[in-house]
Amino acid sequence: MEIRFDNKVAIVTGAASGIGLACAELLAESGAKVALVDYQPDNLEEATRKVQNKGIAKGYKLDVTDVPAIASTVSQIRQDLGEVDALVCSAGIIIRKLSQNATESDWDAILSVNAKGLFFCNQTVAVQSMIPHGTGAIVNIASIFGIVGGPERLAYCASKGGVVQLTRAEAIDWAPYNVRVNALAPTFVLTDLTRTYLSDPEAENYVLGNTPLHRAATLDDVAVATCFLASDAAKMITGVVLPIDGGWTAQ
Ligand code: NAI
Repeated sequence: MEIRFDNKVAIVTGAASGIGLACAELLAESGAKVALVDYQPDNLEEATRKVQNKGIAKGYKLDVTDVPAIASTVSQIRQDLGEVDALVCSAGIIIRKLSQNATESDWDAILSVNAKGLFFCNQTVAVQSMIPHGTGAIVNIASIFGIVGGPERLAYCASKGGVVQLTRAEAIDWAPYNVRVNALAPTFVLTDLTRTYLSDPEAENYVLGNTPLHRAATLDDVAVATCFLASDAAKMITGVVLPIDGGWTAQ
């Protein structure tokens, strides 16, 4: 079976780097017209050029914490590329601190990008495009730390737990409109977000020791699962949280 997105429009947030970029590349390669959304203009430009080598792509600078700007960006994307069939929300940040040291500003910064920004991207695309057109698939990039706890990442765990639950709530509310909403819960993947952390042998041992398949995930592991959930092949699947974790959360 081949998964194709010909004549379909996909938006990917956090598309200038890591998981978002890998998803944007695979979607474009599979025929989608891809809107890359990110707040880092230089990386966004470079990423857009990369994705344009695989298919049709356009970059849009947006900070997902700027809620009014989400509406105007989504309107612009619809004008440029057409109504939205798939939304992948990958924009995210982490601050690593013990729970007793987390500050109010750490909490606000992480929750505003990972949970609030993601929710308003979901809602805006659903309300402007997917609900009125009676079709659409949203894939939210959560984390294993939305399912299980982890050390030194209190606000991150809270934000990803939020993504897991808002995904389920939206799936129920938007099922009558044939809008599917699912989440992925990846384990560690080597990206800009994790490069420094994973270079510490202690962190590497922590990851491998907790993973029955004894490896980190790859960008491809996550991008392939994203494309599956975003595609018609998953048309009976909504409200699931799919771990891409080599068995971490099965223990
Ligand atoms: P990354 O740092 O490589 O990419 C994240 C992208 O999001 C960056 O391009 C950044 O500019 C963008 N971004 C951050 N804040 C933004 C904002 N306010 N508005 C717009 N764009 C913004 O990180 P990575 O690893 O690709 O992470 C992507 C998602 O996957 C995140 O939500 C992360 O929590 C999640 N994740 C990552 C894992 C990993 O091990 N790398 C494991 C599990 C989940």
